[in-house]
Amino acid sequence: MNTEIITRNAEETETVGATFAKTLKAGDFIAMFGDLGAGKTAFVRGAMKTLADGARVQSPTYTIVNEYPARIPVYHFDMYRIDDEDSLYSIGYYDYLESGGICFAEWCEKIEPYLPEAYYTVTIRKCADDPDKRIITIQDTNR
Ligand SMILES: Nc1ncnc2c1ncn2[C@@H]1O[C@H](COP(=O)(O)OP(=O)(O)O)[C@@H](O)[C@H]1O
Ligand SMILES: [Mg+2]
Repeated sequence: MNTEIITRNAEETETVGATFAKTLKAGDFIAMFGDLGAGKTAFVRGAMKTLADGARVQSPTYTIVNEYPARIPVYHFDMYRIDDEDSLYSIGYYDYLESGGICFAEWCEKIEPYLPEAYYTVTIRKCADDPDKRIITIQDTNR
């Protein structure tokens, strides 16, 4: 699978996240790429409407990981401050991978060597021609 979708505002990006989340299963990992303000957190906020309706999604910028209890628990990471594998061990990253929950990870640019074997890639790009336009690419990587 390799899908490309254009959105025109944050709500549309949330809707793409919500629709994508319907395909997710226990143990799935979603590696997110894209600059600050691209819309990664907006996408996860939409996904959570499907996975844990009513959950208030905030960026895990300071906490590194937020946990959302649900039928399948969801873990939302922000890897921006992760600089080496030791930091990944100390946040329990590998335990989360084995937990059977669904993991969304923003800033996977920072952890590319440590991604699991199979995962989804979600890349969100801004466009020079319109400040609110985004190109969202969803790919299966080794799945
Ligand atoms: N098409 C769009 N999709 C997502 N966010 C958008 C879009 N257009 C404008 N925005 C704005 O861009 C910002 C995205 O923020 P956020 O989701 O926190 O990004 P990130 O997590 O990638 O840093 C928000 O202020 C949102 O309102
Ligand atoms: Mg974010």
